[in-house]
Amino acid sequence: MSNTQSTPQGLADEPSRAAYRDYTQPGIDRVREFYRNNHTYQTLDFVLAKKNKWLPFQQRQMTPWEGLDYLNTLVDESDPDINLPQISHLLQTAEAIRADGHPDWFVLTGFVHDLGKVLCLFGEPQWAVVGDTFPVGCRHSHQIVYPEFFAANPDSQDKRYDSELGIYSARCGLDQVHMSWGHDEYLYHLLKNYLPEPAQYMIRYHSFYAWHKEGQYRHLTDARDDANLAWVQKFNPYDLYSKNPNPPVMAELKPYYEDLLAKYLPATLKL
Ligand SMILES: [Fe+2]
Ligand SMILES: [Fe+2]
Repeated sequence: MSNTQSTPQGLADEPSRAAYRDYTQPGIDRVREFYRNNHTYQTLDFVLAKKNKWLPFQQRQMTPWEGLDYLNTLVDESDPDINLPQISHLLQTAEAIRADGHPDWFVLTGFVHDLGKVLCLFGEPQWAVVGDTFPVGCRHSHQIVYPEFFAANPDSQDKRYDSELGIYSARCGLDQVHMSWGHDEYLYHLLKNYLPEPAQYMIRYHSFYAWHKEGQYRHLTDARDDANLAWVQKFNPYDLYSKNPNPPVMAELKPYYEDLLAKYLPATLKL
């Protein structure tokens, strides 16, 4: 383990929590348009095709830092709260987790949880990378953001999928459920062998607000999902509320995070 230590930064001047995830604020058209595409085109067939394409991880190789550096060029169109570079969001999330004294694997999870957005580097449209996620192959919950846009999704008219269980069996477990395709599922498969189970859940389901915030889809979860829900919920406020305009200084913190990445992850990731 590293001897590199530094003091957690970037927790001052946090806006009030009610100000986050407000989809009615002015200038939100970008987010609406994002979800119109996301909800229209994320079908079961689309998800299966993306899994086929990306989960063999045969596209290219890069170090974790190269991936993080790339994220600096990306502005997430689905996020009503943040115009900061992605790396700043990751650093703020991780620093807030560290400030609360959580274990280092939890801090690392905060630091890498959006690394799957490198899919944008490979030419994927944002509606197939970011935004809230939801199960496909069964009826869409009305608790998903902008539920009206699912009317244009072909799966909504397909009798195989348009029921509460759809293609699944009751309490089958989320591991059996295909989620809308995006950075969460992609990164979970990329890192699942290196991180403890709660970290895997945080990464895989951090955008599944209909489950971890709204309590939907409990007919699909199993005991393992139920046991890990609290971890996903514990992670969420760090992802959401650490988006503050006074970012911590990466230059001072880089040695600590380099050591943390080296402790858990391979030097090169096959993406
Ligand atoms: Fe994310
Ligand atoms: Fe995030």
